[in-house]
Amino acid sequence: MSGAVEQEAGTTVSVATGLGPDYTVIVEPGALDRLPVLLSEFAPAHRYALISDDTVFGLHGDRVMSLLAGTALQVEPFTFPAGEASKTRDTWAELTDRMLEARFGRDSVVIALGGGVTGDVAGFVAASYMRGVSFVQIPTTLLAQVDASVGGKTGVNLATGKNLVGAFHQPLLVLIDPQTLETLPPKQYRAGLFEVIKHGIIWSPELFELLETRRDAVIGRKPDVLERIIADSVRIKAHVVSQDERESGLRRILNYGHTLGHGLEAETGYQRLLHGEAVGWGMIAAGRLAESMGMFSSRDRERAEQLILAYGPLPDLSGVNAGAVAARIHGDKKTIGGKVHFILPTGIGKVEVTINPPGDQVLAATQAAIEVVAQ
Ligand SMILES: NC(=O)c1ccc[n+]([C@@H]2O[C@H](COP(=O)([O-])OP(=O)(O)OC[C@H]3O[C@@H](n4cnc5c(N)ncnc54)[C@H](O)[C@@H]3O)[C@@H](O)[C@H]2O)c1
Ligand SMILES: [Zn+2]
Repeated sequence: MSGAVEQEAGTTVSVATGLGPDYTVIVEPGALDRLPVLLSEFAPAHRYALISDDTVFGLHGDRVMSLLAGTALQVEPFTFPAGEASKTRDTWAELTDRMLEARFGRDSVVIALGGGVTGDVAGFVAASYMRGVSFVQIPTTLLAQVDASVGGKTGVNLATGKNLVGAFHQPLLVLIDPQTLETLPPKQYRAGLFEVIKHGIIWSPELFELLETRRDAVIGRKPDVLERIIADSVRIKAHVVSQDERESGLRRILNYGHTLGHGLEAETGYQRLLHGEAVGWGMIAAGRLAESMGMFSSRDRERAEQLILAYGPLPDLSGVNAGAVAARIHGDKKTIGGKVHFILPTGIGKVEVTINPPGDQVLAATQAAIEVVAQ
């Protein structure tokens, strides 16, 4: 894949954006220690607003602040309560108010230190503050490292749905230090692994096989394997979004497992599963659907399902109504002109977009996937 340069330590991936300049993603254990020099090189600014949730700031904030303290770089922290419930216009308003009070100007840079919630909120602050200031992402969850921090989507949730207000705003730099995951709770870590599995199924038989053969090392967060799965995921996501910044074509393949996964998240009130877990389940359902439509061999379907289940357990879904989940897909934001686009696998490392698959087969696959997880 173009744009990826393997260095002795770490991987650097360049992401093309179409409209703006390319930006750089660095995946490197210990890279956070180089923050001052990396900021000076990639995102020089008069002042930096470090936006973080209180959990992440409590764990990693002191280190980041002290790394910058001995330099000429001026940084001020702005924190908000951790969790999806903070991904709101209220948090956005409060952060921008506080930055205004602190007299941050157009020449400041926002640094997002945290998971996908922080990246999305801080990115939206950066996209809108004084009509837009630059920003740097330092993702600290696996989900944010392999998915949310690359691609330029920012935004907040409304009461009526997730991510309904936002903007595309590309960072100047994404700094991924896998060592920051050392403090991440296991459930959060595993949830992020389902997005890594997704990258294997949609694009890379090699990544898929690595996840099969090195499962214990992956779960155990062995540094070499961890770096590799993050770097592979970033390369794949970067390649896909570079081709297609605004999600018209190729970018859709990243939604594999998400159409029914979003339906399940909504149906369970966003309480029973983490997003990544819902995607894990949605990939099982989509695999079953592809098999029933004759697109995906039984052998590959089983292999994919085994891999997903090997990274479980997924939360028990007994009592969830398959019909209600399947019905939700028509309310999904990604429905285009009443059409439902399903990303269905046709092999390990290959997917196709299928429009409006037969409703009875969608329902049967949804039901079957609920039963697989209920066992
Ligand atoms: N912009 C995109 O393209 C994109 C893509 C995928 C997901 N998302 C968004 O990302 C969000 C989910 O991201 P997430 O799962 O990272 O959620 P999150 O940011 O809420 O992080 C999950 C939890 O882990 C904690 N945490 C983060 N880093 C930690 C660390 N290193 N050690 C200990 N605890 C840590 C956080 O405080 C939080 O409680 C959703 O809002 C989703 O919509 C955005
Ligand atoms: Zn996702």
